[in-house]
This record gives sequence, structure tokens and C-alpha cells, in this order.
Amino acid sequence: MTLRIGVLASGRGTNLQALIDHFSSLGENSPVRIELVASNKAGAMALERARNAGIQAETFDATDDGRALLDTLGKHNIDMVVLAGYMKRIPPAVVRQFHSRMVNIHPGLLPEFGGAGMYGAKVHQAVIASGARTTGVTVHFVDDEFDHGPVIAQWRIKVNDGDTAETLAARVLEVEHAIYPRAVEMIASLNERKLFADF
Ligand code: GRF
Repeated sequence: MTLRIGVLASGRGTNLQALIDHFSSLGENSPVRIELVASNKAGAMALERARNAGIQAETFDATDDGRALLDTLGKHNIDMVVLAGYMKRIPPAVVRQFHSRMVNIHPGLLPEFGGAGMYGAKVHQAVIASGARTTGVTVHFVDDEFDHGPVIAQWRIKVNDGDTAETLAARVLEVEHAIYPRAVEMIASLNERKLFADF
């Protein structure tokens, strides 16, 4: 059974692009199909990337209690939700419905350097300011708190002397693009074998 994926994105969508490229390269053997890209922002570049790839792209009102998002996901029979640079908190009703079927990627080694306000360059600035010698990428299940649910995969990246938020961000992003599609593929294949992740 092919898992129907809905990707939520608010911005430029480079992780979305990595997902699109990876699963299209698997062709018929892909355990997932990206059915939908949905955004709270009409101008999100991610929506354009979806359209260019022939994937349905929609916006929804993210100011309600989650009903609009649930409707959108329901309309497309989405099995699993993949957050790729989605900047809003997921309402509890949506977290409940997609419990252990919703994942996020964070450009840091959670539980460090995560939570509200910790996104984009802010993460890398905080890592450098802390003097940490290691940063990384975390793929995790989504729960009610920002950057909080159980960790699925992590990759550690060395912080070099003289690194800036920009140089660090570039290396972290490269790892994100490698790890996220493979983590999603792994989850899909484990679910197919009834080795469900649940928490
Ligand atoms: C990534 O760094 C991701 O870890 C975080 O938001 C950023 C999205 O970047 N959640 P992009 O839109 O995929 O380029």
C-alpha cells in the first residue's frame, strides 16, 4: 500500500524539493506518494515547487482550531503529515488525529536549541553563541509542543572554528536534504510491515 503524504510548508521549500526528488527517483517502488502540499501562506515558494512537480498545492486558514487543516488533509485522504518548514503550531485536534503519523525536521540536535522562537538562523546563532562543538539535524514525531515529540533520527555535525550562522546553516541544510526523505521512507516501510511507531 502506498502511503499518502501531505507536506505542510510555509516557506522556500528546499526540504519539500528533496522529498519530491527522492520519491520521484524511486518511481514505482516508492512506498509513499506526495499527494498534497498545503501552506498557511499563499506566496510560499513551496507551493510553486509542488505545482511544478504536478502535486496538488493548497492554502488553508491556520488561524482556527485546526478544522480547516483537518478538512484539507481529509479531503485528500492523507495518511501521514510531513512538516517541512511549517512555521505554525499544530493545533491539538490535528496532533491527536495524526498521532504518530506526523513528523518534523529541526536544524539542531533536539532537545537542545529547540522550542518556540528557535527556528532558522536563530538556531545556528544560538549554537555558535553557546560554544557547542557539535550541532545536527533531528527528525521527530510531532506532539503538542514545538520541537518536542519522540526522536526518529539524528545526525551530528561538527561546528568548525570560524563558523558563522550562514556557513553552519548550509552544512546543516545539506544533511537535512539527505536525512529527511530517507527517514520518511523508513517510517513508511516500517509501517507497511506493521512495525508501527507509536507513542
Ligand atoms: C529547515 O531548516 C527545517 O529544519 C526547519 O525549517 C527549515 C525549512 O527550510 N523546520 P526549507 O523551507 O525546507 O528550505
